[in-house]
Amino acid sequence: MRHLLEVDDLTPSELTAVLDRAEAADPDPVLAGRGMALLFEKPSARTRNSMEMAVVQLGGHPIPIRGEEVGLDVRETVEDVTRTLACYHAAIGARVFDHAHLERMAAVDAVPIVNMLSDLAHPLQALADLLTIRQELGRLDVTVAYVGDANNVARSLAFAVAMVGGRFRLAAPPGHRFDEATSERVAAVDGSTGQGIEVHDRPELAVEGADVVYTDVWTSMGQEAQAATRLRAFEGYTITSAMLDTMSPNGIFLHCLPAHRGEEVAADVVDGPRSRVWPQAANRMHAARGLLWWLMEQART
Ligand code: CP
Ligand code: NVA
Repeated sequence: MRHLLEVDDLTPSELTAVLDRAEAADPDPVLAGRGMALLFEKPSARTRNSMEMAVVQLGGHPIPIRGEEVGLDVRETVEDVTRTLACYHAAIGARVFDHAHLERMAAVDAVPIVNMLSDLAHPLQALADLLTIRQELGRLDVTVAYVGDANNVARSLAFAVAMVGGRFRLAAPPGHRFDEATSERVAAVDGSTGQGIEVHDRPELAVEGADVVYTDVWTSMGQEAQAATRLRAFEGYTITSAMLDTMSPNGIFLHCLPAHRGEEVAADVVDGPRSRVWPQAANRMHAARGLLWWLMEQART
């Protein structure tokens, strides 16, 4: 059974197949008469709505569930929650605090498990990001400069970019970069240079000549107690319009959202001419539909 916990659960050609399905008209109603459980331990605007609509567009019925309703390892074990939901649903999506819970759900192997964001990864976001890059720039072998926290969004994006022949630059202060295991795993899927992530001390160095500049919040959901320390750690990492003057002339700005204007990005960047954050947000639904269509096909064979 195939699951999507991180982008490299797909091969590069499967990744392209998912992007192609995301853009295909008239998707097969692979979820007709079937349900998909969407479990959220954290808040969500884009992921919940894009996944619910993607399930509907494939003929299925989404059921959103709040974390406390099932209580992973509190009311019953992660495995029993998974077995229970699999009695009624063709697939389970989950947004969790602990990535290990997704691994345990996938290990039950009852229905496909889709990571809707964990502490480690946000693969659905990375699929939408690649789709947006392909649509806006006409190719995927681009240079992406990610400025900010090497978090779940950055990690999945690094895998995605490396897998399609792009180059991934990270600008982050020490202590907020990828661990060695992640860097090695990204290098292992890097089809172009084999080097994986390029790390910079200063945002300006990463942004120069880049085709895509990307950022995300400095304090992710669940890290609220560290917010003040993080604000100090990321001083000088705010993306400004002056910084973007040195990127490639047709370069674009992306952000997974929600954005904090004045923190990780200046308002005139996120709302400015290079910004493609709204097509990117819209692509969450198309990418989710492409992925679910592909996953359901795999589950049938
Ligand atoms: N980008 C993203 O995943 O947004 P939500 O947290 O609103 O789902
Ligand atoms: N890194 C952020 C992404 C939100 C979509 C978080 O985990 O809160």
